[in-house]
Amino acid sequence: MSHAEDHEGTRRDFLYYATAGAGAVTAGAAVWPLVNQMNPSADVRALSSIRVDTSGIEQGTQLTVKWLGKPVFIRRRTQAEIDEARAVTMDQLSIDQGSQNANKPDTDAADENRAMDEAGEWLVMMGVCTHLGCVPLGDGAGDFGGWFCPCHGSHYDTSGRIRKGPAPENLHVPIASFEGSELVLG
Ligand code: FES
Repeated sequence: MSHAEDHEGTRRDFLYYATAGAGAVTAGAAVWPLVNQMNPSADVRALSSIRVDTSGIEQGTQLTVKWLGKPVFIRRRTQAEIDEARAVTMDQLSIDQGSQNANKPDTDAADENRAMDEAGEWLVMMGVCTHLGCVPLGDGAGDFGGWFCPCHGSHYDTSGRIRKGPAPENLHVPIASFEGSELVLG
């Protein structure tokens, strides 16, 4: 083997290894994001969606479940609560006129845009005061017959809309849907 051939061979080897190396890195880069995306998303999917059996919830009562570390209020309203919520006009909602319903973005705070069903029997909301995050008291608490946050005195009506106090927004309605009597959150 001449010196030139030897040199050539070395260069080819070098190129080969360089290419193989680059190939390996590329393959690695392609595989890792896939693995990284698959593992956490499977975890997150399992955690981010829960099913709640609502068949035992009586009218006029509320079930509180924990979801993603936060309380969620599931209230089965009486006709009186529904009527009260639906009699409120937009000009009475001076603090927040948005539905704050993740299922109906960009809608106004009419009760029809906050309840889960057309009749308005089911109201599902994050049990987190929009002021600083305390858990409001339910069962007709406060000046508007809905929820009251004792931390700094925020009053929410029977649709969970802020009516008085420092909270800036209506209680948030999370992504949710019914499958029969099961409520799917997330
Ligand atoms: S946290 Fe609810 S009023 Fe301040």
